[in-house]
Amino acid sequence: MNKKLLVAAALVGLATGASAQGTVNVICSVQADWCNMIATVYARTTGVKINLALKGSGEALAQLIAEKDNPKTDVWFGGTGDPHLQAAEMGLTLEYKSPSLPQLYPWAQQQAQQSGYKTVGVYSGPLGFGYNTELLKKKKLDVPRSWADLLKPEYKGDIQVANPASSGTAYTMIATLVQMMGEDKAFEYLKGLHRNVGQYTRSGTGPIKAVARGETAVSISFVHDAPQEKMQGFPVETVTPSEGTGAEIGSMSIIKGARNLEQAKKFYEWALTPQAQTFGAAAKQYQLPSNKATAVDPNVPDFKKIKLINYDYAKYGASAERRRLIARWEKDVNSLPR
Ligand code: G6P
Repeated sequence: MNKKLLVAAALVGLATGASAQGTVNVICSVQADWCNMIATVYARTTGVKINLALKGSGEALAQLIAEKDNPKTDVWFGGTGDPHLQAAEMGLTLEYKSPSLPQLYPWAQQQAQQSGYKTVGVYSGPLGFGYNTELLKKKKLDVPRSWADLLKPEYKGDIQVANPASSGTAYTMIATLVQMMGEDKAFEYLKGLHRNVGQYTRSGTGPIKAVARGETAVSISFVHDAPQEKMQGFPVETVTPSEGTGAEIGSMSIIKGARNLEQAKKFYEWALTPQAQTFGAAAKQYQLPSNKATAVDPNVPDFKKIKLINYDYAKYGASAERRRLIARWEKDVNSLPR
C-alpha cells in the first residue's frame, strides 16, 4: 500500500473507531423539542453524539422492519408502547434487563415484562380531546364531553385525529374504543366519527396543533400535548371522555443488531434516570415520567381524576392484532366517503 493510501486507511479507521465509540443512532418518537434537547444535553455531558431521526410511532416501526437485515438504528426512544411491543414480538429489538427497573412504576416494569424485556416504559399519558375555546364559541358548539358527543352532526368537518397507520396516538384511540365497546360496535362508531373528521393527520400531535391555530375546533389527542400550546397563548383546553379512556405507555427499545450497542445501553440507562426524565417537561411535554424519583411537573395530567380503562397492552401490542385492526380501519372506515 502506498503512503497516501495508508494515511487514508488510518483516517477511515479513526473515523469509524470514533463513531463506534462516540455515536448513537436514535429514532425519536416524541416531539422535536424534547428529542433535540436530549441530543444536545447528552452530547454536552458525555461527549457522545446522538444522530436523531424523528418519526411517529407507526412510521418508526415501519423503518425498523425495513432495516431489519441491516439495522441503522441503535435505540428507539419514545412513542406509544403498542408498536414497541410489536417490534419486540417481531424480534426487532434486543432483550435487555436494566438495573434501573425496580426504580420504575409498575406500569413501566410491566411493559418490560410483557415484552420479554425487549422494551420498557419511559412515560405514560391519557388520551382525550383538545378544543379551541374561541372557535367553539364562534361556531356556537358545546364542549364535547364524551365519545358519543363526537358523533353529533354539528361537529361535522371540525374534528381532527391522526391516521393510525403512522400514528400511535390514533392507534391508541382505536384500541381504546375496541376495548370499551367491543370490536364491531367500535368500528360502527369509527365510521360515524369518520363523517365528522375534517382531516386525518400523519402525526399524532398534528390535530392539537391544528386546534391551537384555529384550523379545527376539536382534536383527539393525548392530554399532555395541550399545555405547551396553551403556554404559547393559544385558546386550547382539554377534556377526557366521560365513558372512559385509554392511556399510552410511551416506551424505549434497543435495536437487535445495533452497531453501537454499548453506547445504546448507556443512553438507555441515562434515559431512565430521574434527571434525564425531567427533560420532557423542560421541553413542555407533560407525560408522567416512569422513574418514581422523577419530579412530576404540575402540568402533568392527574390520572386520579380521569376514568381510565384497564388497557390490555399485551393484546393490543400483539403484531397480528395491531396489523389487523389498522387494516380493518383502512378498509371499513378510511375508504368511505366523507
Ligand atoms: C406525542 C406525544 C407522545 C406520543 C407521541 C406519539 O409526541 O407527546 O406522548 O407517544 O406523540 O406520536 P404519534 O405520531 O405516533 O402518534
